[in-house]
Amino acid sequence: MNRPRILVNIAMTVDGKIDSAARKGAAISSRADKRRVGELRASVDAILIGGRTLLNEDPRLTVKSAELRAERLRKGWPENPAKVGVVTDVGADLVVAPEGQGQALPLRRFLTSGPAQVYLFTTRCTAPEVLAAFETAGATVHVMGQERVDLVAVFRTLHEAGIRSVLVEGGGTLIAELFGLGLVDELTIYIAPKIFGGNSAPTLADGHGFLPNQAPGLKLESVEKFDHEGGILVHYFVEHEE
Ligand SMILES: NC(=O)c1ccc[n+]([C@@H]2O[C@H](COP(=O)([O-])OP(=O)(O)OC[C@H]3O[C@@H](n4cnc5c(N)ncnc54)[C@H](OP(=O)(O)O)[C@@H]3O)[C@@H](O)[C@H]2O)c1
Repeated sequence: MNRPRILVNIAMTVDGKIDSAARKGAAISSRADKRRVGELRASVDAILIGGRTLLNEDPRLTVKSAELRAERLRKGWPENPAKVGVVTDVGADLVVAPEGQGQALPLRRFLTSGPAQVYLFTTRCTAPEVLAAFETAGATVHVMGQERVDLVAVFRTLHEAGIRSVLVEGGGTLIAELFGLGLVDELTIYIAPKIFGGNSAPTLADGHGFLPNQAPGLKLESVEKFDHEGGILVHYFVEHEE
């Protein structure tokens, strides 16, 4: 396999929403789930997110626990996993500061929380000066695709860089695309006892959807009553066609 192992982890409400219709990154995880996600992050080589999650939320994507980071270092691993963003067009307004204030640092938390290696995979839609700003901030930039990032090429490139496991943390458009390409190996879902509703609220797998005979098959590994809040943790393996 010339790609890393790919695990998707997501927090969703009972009605399958991964954010409210306001799309402002609503809190879904419990404290216990955040701890579990911290452990999951600490176990992988890289964490990957989609463009809208990255640009709207600028997440840190680091391992918060000092103990878990120290454990990674003891194993000879980098202190934090690499961070990977997949973005069609970063948009110059995120990079160019208001006139007279010099160059602003884009996506400050994503780029500077760490230490961590940062990769940006984008398309020709992102302006060269924006790519240069990312490189100046220390990111490794790959232009892969005209109007959509070529995800197969992304994972090949990460594999060539020595990355053997990737945790995908959303959003729904990216996850749907990964399932469609047969690129997901495992799926863990924390289900919070909440209902967000809303036609336009994002779900675990958005995009165009799958015809029933093309829907990815899942094999249930475990279901767990997870915390005092009434959350459930579900773990699936994805069935790949031989
Ligand atoms: N509950 C959770 O665990 C969780 C985790 C993460 C995110 N979220 C939520 O998910 C929502 C964001 O999800 P989203 O579906 O809007 O966006 P997303 O999956 O984060 O990002 C998708 C965007 O990435 C770009 N992209 C470029 N190449 C792509 C490719 N080959 N495949 C897929 N995407 C590609 C596209 O940008 P263009 O459209 O510009 O082409 C696409 O719209 C937010 O509301 C966030 O809060 C929830």
